[in-house]
Amino acid sequence: MEGKTVLITGANSGIGKETAREMARQGARVIMACRNQETANAAREEIVKETGNNNVIIKKIDLGSQRSVREFAADILKTENKLDVLIHNAGMALAFRGATSEDAAYLYYVSKYANIYFARELAQRLEGSGITVNFLHPGMIDSGIWRNVPFPLNYPMLAVTKCFFKTPKQGAETTIYLASSKDVEGVSGKYFMDKKEHGLSAAAMDMDKAKKIWEESAKIVGLTASDPKI
Ligand SMILES: NC(=O)c1ccc[n+]([C@@H]2O[C@H](COP(=O)([O-])OP(=O)(O)OC[C@H]3O[C@@H](n4cnc5c(N)ncnc54)[C@H](OP(=O)(O)O)[C@@H]3O)[C@@H](O)[C@H]2O)c1
Repeated sequence: MEGKTVLITGANSGIGKETAREMARQGARVIMACRNQETANAAREEIVKETGNNNVIIKKIDLGSQRSVREFAADILKTENKLDVLIHNAGMALAFRGATSEDAAYLYYVSKYANIYFARELAQRLEGSGITVNFLHPGMIDSGIWRNVPFPLNYPMLAVTKCFFKTPKQGAETTIYLASSKDVEGVSGKYFMDKKEHGLSAAAMDMDKAKKIWEESAKIVGLTASDPKI
């Protein structure tokens, strides 16, 4: 990955941090896009020390704020000549304002469907451009994502994640594969698990829905005529 720039959101913990570590190990310039600067600094320090790659930088972003996203994007456009790999890793679960844990679980499931529609629509829009877009399921991973499981479910959940779930390092394997392997050069719009392409349910293949979600999302984030079009 020498000479390549890799941007990873949520690189301060879990799967994102392990992905950043491996990308740095492989010699990439790594941009850690994080909202928590304290844990981001600690993660960067650990990664630089372990890999010897100083070309790891932190940029602040809160993906829950459109202002922050736009400031971040403007900064990237100003400071970077190119991005070779963009990894949309940041995510959260069970912390939806006002939702019960059962609703919250449903909203997480729906949000992951939205990720699939987004990736498939983006892949279609970028067809022929040389830019590829793929998406993945990392498996069940023992990471910070489970920290919002409410009492009393949090204790059994902790035991389950420690005993049966994969480590964040294992969880990062498919992301790293998609970011760096020659096997997937030119492959776009596909779903991966355990470094292998997998089929999708009929619902996830619904391109009318994908288009609609794209268009609604564009309205929600307030895209205007002056924004870049894809
Ligand atoms: N763990 C699993 O079993 C599993 C299964 C399927 C999919 N995934 C997906 O894998 C991805 C990585 O999750 P993980 O398991 O590694 O969990 P994690 O350790 O909780 O990492 C999630 C990362 O996303 C960041 N993040 C959340 N909201 C953000 C925001 N508004 N702005 C900026 N960053 C934000 C978090 O930052 P903070 O530290 O500031 O909170 C954290 O760095 C997520 O998209 C998750 O949905 C995980």
